[in-house]
Amino acid sequence: MSKTAATAGFMSMKGGGYYSKATIGAKHTIDRATHLILDAIERMDPADDGSPFTMSDMGCADGGTSVSMVGTVLKEVRRRVPSRPLQMVYTDLPRNDFSQVFQNIHGQTDIETYIDEIDDLYVFASATSFHKPIFPAGTLNLGFSATASHYISEKPGVISDHVHMVGASGAEREAYVEQGRLDWERMLLNRARDLAPGGRLALFNFGIDEEGRYLGSTGGADMFDTFSRLWADLRDQGVITAEEFVNTNFPQSYRTVEQFTAPFRDTANPVYQAGLRMEHVETRVVACPFAVDFKEHGDAARFAHEYIPTLRSWSEATFASGLSTARPVEERQAIIDRFYDSYEALVRGAPDGHAMDYVHCYLIIEKVAA
Ligand SMILES: C[S@@+](CC[C@H](N)C(=O)[O-])C[C@H]1O[C@@H](n2cnc3c(N)ncnc32)[C@H](O)[C@@H]1O
Repeated sequence: MSKTAATAGFMSMKGGGYYSKATIGAKHTIDRATHLILDAIERMDPADDGSPFTMSDMGCADGGTSVSMVGTVLKEVRRRVPSRPLQMVYTDLPRNDFSQVFQNIHGQTDIETYIDEIDDLYVFASATSFHKPIFPAGTLNLGFSATASHYISEKPGVISDHVHMVGASGAEREAYVEQGRLDWERMLLNRARDLAPGGRLALFNFGIDEEGRYLGSTGGADMFDTFSRLWADLRDQGVITAEEFVNTNFPQSYRTVEQFTAPFRDTANPVYQAGLRMEHVETRVVACPFAVDFKEHGDAARFAHEYIPTLRSWSEATFASGLSTARPVEERQAIIDRFYDSYEALVRGAPDGHAMDYVHCYLIIEKVAA
């Protein structure tokens, strides 16, 4: 298996619709910034020339978190350009549960979909990484991606005393920062190639804001530190080995606003040279919906029970990947269950400060005409 394929295997979201149900905060992140995309379409002012108009959701998971935004945006495009056939392309990695994407979008689940409300609309999927070209050059009109660009194409090394690069230091951290830089530029360069002149990108990225906040670290208990501590507890209890602990690292790089915007500020950067220009940048914190509910109902057991699945939906694959494949599958599953049970018990016993607040850097980017 190639290094990239191995990395892809443990970054996948839980399938079977689990992802969207457990990640209502990710949906809030998208829905509440839909106006940024509508404003971009207004600036784009697409011609009503009968040619196909193509939109993509890159790193879509099961497509459920973006469905309201995509419906709103495509209806607006349809209103502006009645003669243009619309192509909506959902992209993710090959192991993604694409069957769930189609069930969600074609109205075969309880998720409300736009499919029957827009004429002349064609829905497709692609399993090509966003680090590669996805569309015939110059044919993408509106590229969207949320909460996905932090996944790097390969792990640049181990983080010996933590599970995430936000807790790494020195050369170990630098390696993740550099991989993040390379992949960000690669992703942008491939979109510069895909995009039609005048096309736009709307990229809502996990990152580190101006105050140093990031996912699950906005002033209370630090989620990645908690993950790391509970995983180390299993090591110290002899449940997992020291090697398994060291091998457990999220294949992610959280970038600062400075790092996100660098390719657009440097006119010599290949991304700038390829015609991409930043139209808008802002950071936002979207409150953890489970912690918000907890403030209302005050039931610690209920909070813990509802909160852990949202963490588990995207982190389980990473912890599972750290375990030795010499262990039988049932044994690995039992360790993972024990790990999340310990997190739930921790939150149940001392709920204050736990929250997976989302911290995003929102970028709107234009591809200028050659
Ligand atoms: C946290 S989920 C976000 C899903 C959805 N966009 C949202 O905002 O709720 C990240 C998704 O990005 C996908 N992903 C990671 N690296 C990718 C890549 N190189 N190309 C395409 N998708 C990727 C993962 O498989 C996963 O489905």
